[in-house]
Amino acid sequence: MYRKDSPQTIQAMFNSIANRYDKTNAVLSFALHKRWNRALVRHILSSQPSTEPHTYLDLCSGTGEIAFDYLQTKQQACQAYLIDFSPDMLERAKEKATKMTFPQHTLSYLEADVQQLPLHDQIADCATMAYGIRNVQQPSRCIQDVFRVLKPGGRFGILELTRPNNRLLRWGHYVYLRTLFPLLGKWLADNPAAYQYLCQSIHTFIAPQELEHLLQAQGFVHTQRYSLMGGIATILIGHKPLS
Ligand SMILES: C[S@@+](CC[C@H](N)C(=O)[O-])C[C@H]1O[C@@H](n2cnc3c(N)ncnc32)[C@H](O)[C@@H]1O
Repeated sequence: MYRKDSPQTIQAMFNSIANRYDKTNAVLSFALHKRWNRALVRHILSSQPSTEPHTYLDLCSGTGEIAFDYLQTKQQACQAYLIDFSPDMLERAKEKATKMTFPQHTLSYLEADVQQLPLHDQIADCATMAYGIRNVQQPSRCIQDVFRVLKPGGRFGILELTRPNNRLLRWGHYVYLRTLFPLLGKWLADNPAAYQYLCQSIHTFIAPQELEHLLQAQGFVHTQRYSLMGGIATILIGHKPLS
């Protein structure tokens, strides 16, 4: 079983599933993650002033799903940083980028821990993080570092898998995660332990309200919380104050 308190083990686990990550993800989420990813991009764009070009960060970028969705919506040049501590995930992202057409953008890949970003203060206009924060050992440290690297007025959007509020839905969700999810993980990715870990991390992670409080505690303002499909996933948006 993978444990959240060992970043090296988590890193090794993501390396081990990187090859089949996109396909497994599509089956396990019934491709709903595509819709949620687009919702995150929409929310981050709608709270964005039109001043461009700009610098964009995708944290826990994995194979680049969110970053590529985001960049495909942008006409004007972006400097994008895809940041992840799994070299294998970043490798998949690089391969995918070669098949995309957005010559106006510049992409950089950073192999780094998102709790300690190798970036200067106040360089980014916006940042996204999808399905990553629940794997991070100290989420508040990561949020604090995102706050540091954002420019005043910058925005941070988080998308995470969460537990539904409705009791019946919560029960169905629990049964799915406990039974089908690890089985499919075993079948599709040949790695039941990894998918057991992913399932457990959804169950043990803090509630969206608490995550919103963490954003506020690190200085983010005008935070917004959007519940998707009865709370199976949640989007949080926070703004760094202008001064
Ligand atoms: C569930 S995947 C999500 C990938 C991607 N955002 C997506 O939407 O498909 C989580 C990613 O977070 C990365 N990750 C987890 N903890 C991290 C940390 N502390 N620092 C950097 N990356 C981390 C993993 O390597 C993995 O690629």
